[in-house]
Amino acid sequence: MYTYEELTAFVSRCTRCPLCRTRQNPVMGRGNLKGGILFIAEAPGNSEDRDGIPFTGPSGKVLDELLADAGMSRQDIYLTNVVKCHPPGNRDPRPEEQEACIIYLKHETILLRPKIIVCLGRVAAQRIIRPDFRITREHGSFLYRKNTWLTAVYHPSAILRDPLKMEETREDFWKIRGKWDEILSGGAS
Ligand code: URA
Repeated sequence: MYTYEELTAFVSRCTRCPLCRTRQNPVMGRGNLKGGILFIAEAPGNSEDRDGIPFTGPSGKVLDELLADAGMSRQDIYLTNVVKCHPPGNRDPRPEEQEACIIYLKHETILLRPKIIVCLGRVAAQRIIRPDFRITREHGSFLYRKNTWLTAVYHPSAILRDPLKMEETREDFWKIRGKWDEILSGGAS
């Protein structure tokens, strides 16, 4: 098992895919290594590429609001991406880029041993939960796999594009909070 510092060092000098030639900064996940809750998005955007930190841009503000509304904060969670480098033009990360990068997410997961994994958006949900996952129909539902509860919610940037999605995403965050409380109190496996 690698430590967080070792993984950060690997990611900082990664050349496993062509995104290393266009990135400004790789974006390693960060947050609470012991909180038991792992949030996975797709790939860094422009602000994150500049700052080297996940969700520092406008979608980060939406995420913070959703967490706060459910009585949580970034200090409670660990936040990362399937792909650690910014895809130019904010396009979806390509399957081969995901393939090259997934090793880091695997090691983050081994390190964290999360009780809950929350996928932020379709790309992460299709990579982590099921290739045919339908975010519009299935967001907010939970499934249990290998000692971990898995769920997916709309990506914060989808809410920025369509603010009507905010309300149902708030409800999804409340469900996540409920599951987390259940687990902390020893109720849900
Ligand atoms: N969008 C993502 O998917 N990840 C980030 O880190 C920021 C925006």
